[in-house]
Amino acid sequence: MAILVTGGAGYIGSVTTEWLRARGEQVVVLDNLSRGHRVAVAPELPFYEGNVGNSELVTRIVREHDVDACIHFAAFAYVGESVIQPALYYENNVEQGIRLLSALNMAGVRRVVFSSTCATYGEPQRIPIDESHQQLPTNPYGWSKLFVERIMADYDRAYDLRFVALRYFNASGATPERGEHHEPETHLIPLVLKAAQVEIERVTVFGSDYPTTDGTCVRDYIHVSDLAAAHALSLEYLRAGNASTAINLGNGQGYSVLEVIEAARQVTEKEIAVEMQGRRPGDPSHLVADASRARSLLGWQPQQPELAAIIGSAWEWHSKHPQGYAESSQSNRRRA
Ligand SMILES: NC(=O)c1ccc[n+]([C@@H]2O[C@H](COP(=O)([O-])OP(=O)(O)OC[C@H]3O[C@@H](n4cnc5c(N)ncnc54)[C@H](O)[C@@H]3O)[C@@H](O)[C@H]2O)c1
Repeated sequence: MAILVTGGAGYIGSVTTEWLRARGEQVVVLDNLSRGHRVAVAPELPFYEGNVGNSELVTRIVREHDVDACIHFAAFAYVGESVIQPALYYENNVEQGIRLLSALNMAGVRRVVFSSTCATYGEPQRIPIDESHQQLPTNPYGWSKLFVERIMADYDRAYDLRFVALRYFNASGATPERGEHHEPETHLIPLVLKAAQVEIERVTVFGSDYPTTDGTCVRDYIHVSDLAAAHALSLEYLRAGNASTAINLGNGQGYSVLEVIEAARQVTEKEIAVEMQGRRPGDPSHLVADASRARSLLGWQPQQPELAAIIGSAWEWHSKHPQGYAESSQSNRRRA
């Protein structure tokens, strides 16, 4: 039996693919490379370049590789872009997501682990946020993820499709081989490290008048390997015949933007210049997870909860790969 990983050439998908492979799972990757990197997937793994909405392709992959479960990472994930181009997000994340779920269902694959997000909660009514918190997204990206959660719940009732919707908080960190390379980069930790490498001049901090200890936004950073482990545990949970559920993934500890920058100065021993700007619309002051369900249902225990360790692992990867995957893609192309 094999696991179909969609979006396996992306940041979290590539780390999870390696995690599963190291634990003896058969893995097949489907990614259209719109935002991912071919070199992030080991060359010996079965890799299909295509859209998750391509039902024929999905059906063929399921048949050829005897797929029994799917981890669905593939999506667009920029909040700002989703506000400007909602159609792109509803087409890619929802429409293609529906086609994927239907193709899986028709082919008899009824176990799905889905990449959801804390952005489905919207403006927090209480902190920490548990899974019963109201879901009222403030942007089309969050809605696109919530719609897929909703659709999976209906597929569960009608077609027995069992799913775990994993609502990640801020994915961060790296393994020695795989790290975060988004184009453009919008995530705080890689931006801070780019500033330490003088690849960008300074880090822009949006908002210094939030009701937090230093006025900047507070977020919950979770190591990408700890996310990978939670996906493996979610598969075990589904394979054991358990019911569909939604699960938060975070450390339950919030750090402000300025605390992250200070921690990065300590880890890198570099100057990191900062520019303060006004608030961005739609940024809540605090986003911190109550992740007790992940512990109780999955037996999940984050192994790298310390911010310094998270930043240290990212720094190691960024120092070895200052151009991210771009360097390896070019050398691969030259070899080809
Ligand atoms: N990075 C975070 O902090 C974070 C937080 C919450 C949720 N998520 C979710 O986790 C998932 C992975 O995030 P990431 O940071 O690794 O993103 P990423 O952009 O690095 O990876 C996404 C991958 O999906 C592929 N893809 C996109 N649309 C596709 C399609 N229609 N068909 C086939 N492939 C497609 C891209 O090429 C890319 O390789 C996403 O669904 C995202 O919404 C991420």
